Amino acid sequence: ANVAVIMVGGPTKGTRFRPLSFNLAKPLFPLAGQPMVQHPILACKKIPNLAQIYLIGFYEERDFTLYVSAISNELKVPVRYLREEKPHGSAGGLYYFRDLLMEENPVNIFVMNCDVCCSFPLSDMLAAHLKYKGIGTLLVKKVSAESASEFGEIVADAETGELLHYAEKPETFVSEWINCGVYIFTPEIFLAIQGVASERNNHGTLRRVSSFEALHFTTKSTQADFVRLDQDILTPLAGKRKLYTYETQDFWEQIKTPGMSLKCSSLYLAQYRLTAPDLLAKGDKSNSAKFVGDVYVHPSAKIHHTAKVGPNVSISGSARIGPGVRLIGCIILDDVEIKENALISHSIVGWKSIVGRWARVQGVGDYTAKLGITILGEDVQVEDEVVVTNCIVLPHKTLNLSVHDEIIL
Ligand code: GDD
Repeated sequence: ANVAVIMVGGPTKGTRFRPLSFNLAKPLFPLAGQPMVQHPILACKKIPNLAQIYLIGFYEERDFTLYVSAISNELKVPVRYLREEKPHGSAGGLYYFRDLLMEENPVNIFVMNCDVCCSFPLSDMLAAHLKYKGIGTLLVKKVSAESASEFGEIVADAETGELLHYAEKPETFVSEWINCGVYIFTPEIFLAIQGVASERNNHGTLRRVSSFEALHFTTKSTQADFVRLDQDILTPLAGKRKLYTYETQDFWEQIKTPGMSLKCSSLYLAQYRLTAPDLLAKGDKSNSAKFVGDVYVHPSAKIHHTAKVGPNVSISGSARIGPGVRLIGCIILDDVEIKENALISHSIVGWKSIVGRWARVQGVGDYTAKLGITILGEDVQVEDEVVVTNCIVLPHKTLNLSVHDEIIL
């Protein structure tokens, strides 16, 4: 059998995702109308003989209870949430649950970061992994030299695919090839993690910690059981004929900020054209709204037939979109009301928010800038005719004056 693990992390890791992570665990935030974590989960359908999918994280158990039972039923593959009572790092988390993961006697363990957006080409990766016969295969991609430093940079042998060198977020340029955070391992990986942990035990607190870690994580990162997959495992195993790489030419992005969630929502909507065209709004009935480009609309949302929606719009459950409304490049969350002739562009509108008549909620559409989109937190009210541009608005605020380029606390 094979098993899959999706590393979902925990609440402290989601701070850049505020204010959207206040009342929802980031892995459950909808991208193209489906929880972030559901995209890798559905990709697991491509894995042969899949016995189990595990989500490993340190969010509260109750954050995932409903979700895992619903998705298990839908998928007909058991999906389980395994909670660490404290963070163990990406490799430490895997190791902590090794006995459970090994219960099905898996040949391969697929491991995916939850906060990446890609096509998860798992069957092609598996074919490469079986050919290489290493203990691990990493998904890699070529990006621009400027952006590579935000990720793990890798050097691989062009002929054999072997991972020769690995440097996590290096300060000086190593390579334009990066680690995509999607892996296939054989159970031997546990021995490698165990090796690091026991070496830690021997050296005690002598391990060097960076000042950032010293400030935030001293207690956990000096612990023997806190092990990171990238710098603690991949770096020392590189160049030992144990790890190999598989290159993807498809889209790939990391989802650390709300701006990137808008970008990734558009990538997943575009992917639906190939993988799930039924999820895209058609607008083929005479009484339906006008849809432009890729749009997802939850069946319980109500859209007035004079509204114009798209491209790149996702509308969640029970949203009400009034007459003459224009929606472009946005995510509208549950129970939102948009009143007549309002315009929303390059924005995320939080749960239960209300946008008034002729109001404008907009962003310049720079997904990587701090204030390149507008985000309304939960239960925000934008009054009639008010214009909100490039703002982050915290939950429960009422805006009765126009604002731009501001964080509204
Ligand atoms: N369960 C659990 N426990 N998950 C964790 C923990 C932990 O203690 N720490 C991190 N994670 C999860 C995160 O939620 C994320 O999905 C994944 O593990 C990696 O997170 P980080 O270790 O914070 O690394 P990163 O996201 O900055 O970078 C990693 O991913 C990039 C690709 O997105 C690195 O592996 C980079 O090399 C890589 O390019």
